Amino acid sequence: MEKIIIEGGYELNGAVEVSGFKNAALPIIPASILAGERCVVENLPMIKDIFCISNIMSSIGADIELNENGTMVIDTSKITKIVAPYDLSRQIRASYYLLGAGLSRFKEVEVAYPGGCDIGTRPIDQHIKGFEALGAKVDIEHGVIKCRADKLVGTKIYLDVVSVGATINIMMAAVCAEGRTTIENAAKEPHVVDVANYLNSMGADVKGAGTDVIRIEGVEKLHGCTYSVIPDQIEAGTYLVAVAATGGDVLVKNVIPKHLESIIAKLRETSANIIEYDDSVRVISNGKLVGVNVKTLPYPGFPTDLQQPMAAILSIAEGSSVITESVFEARFKYIDELKRMGANIKVDGRVAIIEGVKELTGARVRATDLRAGVALVVAGLIAKGKTEIDDVFHIDRGYENIEQKLLGLGAKIYRVNR
Ligand code: UD1
Repeated sequence: MEKIIIEGGYELNGAVEVSGFKNAALPIIPASILAGERCVVENLPMIKDIFCISNIMSSIGADIELNENGTMVIDTSKITKIVAPYDLSRQIRASYYLLGAGLSRFKEVEVAYPGGCDIGTRPIDQHIKGFEALGAKVDIEHGVIKCRADKLVGTKIYLDVVSVGATINIMMAAVCAEGRTTIENAAKEPHVVDVANYLNSMGADVKGAGTDVIRIEGVEKLHGCTYSVIPDQIEAGTYLVAVAATGGDVLVKNVIPKHLESIIAKLRETSANIIEYDDSVRVISNGKLVGVNVKTLPYPGFPTDLQQPMAAILSIAEGSSVITESVFEARFKYIDELKRMGANIKVDGRVAIIEGVKELTGARVRATDLRAGVALVVAGLIAKGKTEIDDVFHIDRGYENIEQKLLGLGAKIYRVNR
């Protein structure tokens, strides 16, 4: 069993390069099904979720070549139908993106009900509502989602909840539908825009991505293209958050500062000094933070995926902080692990009340999901003494070379297998 071990209490200094955005790359890879030709996708993060979606794509007949530098050549011309293997598709949430892409190209697709982090019930009713509105019949039988349509016809779809996954999936299903599809109350996240840009590079006509109304004019067919994925907003935010609490001076490179606005604003409130450049952000901090209130919201609000590392640093901030999780219903399971390290946090439903303590102390803890795992890494960096993190496979799903990147900044972090 692999563990991450951290000797905490060291400042972080230097520069760190952010990888490509996991949550954009995960739909972009299956979106290539729509081209039916060769696509080249650059700036992919080398993380487990990408290897998993790549295996799923190979298993349905795509030719995939993934280079170490994060470039993937995807040829989907030989795929004839999409029945995604049960065990693989259950491993990640993003396997559901094969539904939208597969439905669009073949009018028939089967994918196992998706997996992903255990952060409460994660319905896919809005995806299904969108597919049905376009003319598909959707059945869930024996844990498998089956969609089929004689033809897809553009229509107006209002999402009852702002969902990144549903917005992207419906966009993919609609690109070749007859006529115009309008998605109202669409998610505005940077990765929604990135996927729309990828679809447009393949010949689609998608307008309005990044606003809450997306208009898609159906086109006859798409074609191959070369595309580079945007930098990972959440990975960048994680490093900014960590340095604010360890103290130090770090330049976080390869970012789109606009995507980090809510995080930068919150960190400034904690008293960290943040300087924005064109494609990098510098954080300078003495590690002495003041408590703040945070509410997670769809973009451009504070991202739910940074709620956990933020809780880790607020646990040593002066005074009290309140975190309200408004996107997912059960995203505080990791708090018990932070308590093992001395954090004083009370959870009541979707609200966590944090009373800042003087210091955290290293402990043996367990990553319960991806972002929870990285919160423990951040806690380990600021804690006194040694932290041992179990179940690090969760962290490997979403963070490329996390130990090497942190080692480069002066952290004492390593991995053992025992
Ligand atoms: C994606 C991200 C995840 C991030 C989340 C919110 C990927 C692989 N994952 O997840 O890291 O935390 O966006 O930014 O990109 N909902 C419904 N019905 C639906 C769909 C969603 O009720 O059909 C609800 C969810 O339960 C949740 C909220 O809508 O409460 C937002 O979910 P959504 O934006 O869809 O998140 P994901 O796409 O699953």
